[in-house]
Amino acid sequence: MRKPLIAGNWKMNKRVGEAVETVKALVPLVAGITAADIVVCPTYTALHAVGQAVNGTNLQLGAQNCYLKESGAYTGEISPQMLRDVGCMWTIIGHSERRQYFSEADELLNEKLKFALSAGLKVMFCIGETLQERQSGKMNDVLERQVTRGLQGLTVSQLVETALAYEPVWAIGTGVNATPDQAQEAHAFIRGLARKQFGESVAAELRIQYGGSVKPDNAKELMMGPDLDGFLVGGASLKADSFAEIAKAAL
Ligand code: 13P
Repeated sequence: MRKPLIAGNWKMNKRVGEAVETVKALVPLVAGITAADIVVCPTYTALHAVGQAVNGTNLQLGAQNCYLKESGAYTGEISPQMLRDVGCMWTIIGHSERRQYFSEADELLNEKLKFALSAGLKVMFCIGETLQERQSGKMNDVLERQVTRGLQGLTVSQLVETALAYEPVWAIGTGVNATPDQAQEAHAFIRGLARKQFGESVAAELRIQYGGSVKPDNAKELMMGPDLDGFLVGGASLKADSFAEIAKAAL
């Protein structure tokens, strides 16, 4: 059985005070939930304070990105080791906003993924097609490229520490979520790709999250898909009550 993984990607939102307030409101709402992994991913500047606020709770801390070196002359970058230092267990890598606005391509993301894993972080690795790619029938090719290149060279034990987040770009922040059937179809395809690359047993264990306009009122139905193992939530994770409802819908 795959344990649901529910993560809130706060993107570039919330100053330190608001971030701590949100997480303090969230803690009692999800207290006692052990059947799912629940992760919050604030901005870098709030990680330390939020890390202290979740210490001793069932909430886990994640970052939204990291670099592929431990330290050195890489102005503006943050290493996985630094993230662990402030209490992160997780990082997101390859979000479509990183791919789109910061030109992060498959090869770089593969290097980042391997480095973060070797530094002891777990990773939510994002993939997903644009509307144009879907409409022109290229969706499966795009997903195949992102998975094959993104996960290239991972060991089986590293894949166990990795979750894939299927986030169709057209569903992110638009209010138009993938239908449960569309999401399930993509997730089954992605699991098939992992099976080809890594074998049956590890593919069966791989958690695949869905992301893109997840809300309390669509989470339950989306989770019915047998290959859906949780969510990566943007907008609806910014409020403690809606994020908690989504987490509960995934149980
Ligand atoms: P929304 O939930 O706001 O659509 O964002 C999804 C997302 O990008 C999570 O990483």
